[in-house]
Amino acid sequence: MSQGTPEIVLVSGYSGVGKSSVVNELHKVLACSQQPLYAFDSGYVRSKADGPRKLSEMGIAGESGGAKTINVNLYSILGSPTIYKLVQKAVGAEKPRQYCLSRFAAVEPGNRVIDIGSGPGLAVGYLPQVDYIGFEPSERYVQHARRKYANTAKFIQGYFNRAAAEEFKPYDLVLLFGVLHHCDDGTVARMLTDIAVGLSPRGRVLTVDPCLTATQSAWARRVALYDRGNYVRTPEQYTALASPHLRVAKCETVDGLLYIPTTVHLAALEHG
Ligand SMILES: C[S@@+](CC[C@H](N)C(=O)[O-])C[C@H]1O[C@@H](n2cnc3c(N)ncnc32)[C@H](O)[C@@H]1O
Repeated sequence: MSQGTPEIVLVSGYSGVGKSSVVNELHKVLACSQQPLYAFDSGYVRSKADGPRKLSEMGIAGESGGAKTINVNLYSILGSPTIYKLVQKAVGAEKPRQYCLSRFAAVEPGNRVIDIGSGPGLAVGYLPQVDYIGFEPSERYVQHARRKYANTAKFIQGYFNRAAAEEFKPYDLVLLFGVLHHCDDGTVARMLTDIAVGLSPRGRVLTVDPCLTATQSAWARRVALYDRGNYVRTPEQYTALASPHLRVAKCETVDGLLYIPTTVHLAALEHG
């Protein structure tokens, strides 16, 4: 394997049978190769019952013997904007976003729209010609979004905060699509407090997140528990979290919007 085209070795088996040992032995043999060697350890996706995922499971684990070991799982693969977009398309994730926009907001051309946790900027495609500003912590997503929407939207790498609210106020619409379930209660409270500072008097905040309900199917519950976000909540918890900061003008909990079994919570928040 030191010459010719790139090769791939897949090692699978039950937990504890020694897959990592096989990969370590391969490292030793192949480390002298002139070609870079990448080892991907898929790990496994734990349910919330097993506790939070460690960051070390999601990033670059280290180098040994000249071979670079990259420890990835399904979540870190989604850090690629291209793969994220493919997965979103495959599961039909645009549907709840469009459903929420069409039912909960009357977006008009020229409105100022703040998209917090904008990812690779998919929401730009659902909106008319607005003054769009996306905030996104991931550099890869932001670079991708800037390339794709160079002339139609502005993307800022980082978190939305009080200074951003002051700088960009007044805004008519704030999108929190797929974001709240990635944030702990304190972060959500700070975010909504800051958003309220610059939200125009008739402005709205739209949220879309997976949720847990007593009536959803076992599959939908499993999909929610296996989500990349560590804070998938019940509809009541989402409402209780938002209410001290903004009034919940409308909300819906909907099954079957995606191609996979999922329960989604949608809400429109506004000044009280
Ligand atoms: C499931 S993705 C949704 C992306 C996009 N809104 C969409 O609908 O495709 C969640 C995004 O939230 C971002 N994010 C996570 N925590 C955040 C926070 N505290 N503030 C802003 N964005 C955050 C992540 O980087 C990620 O891009």
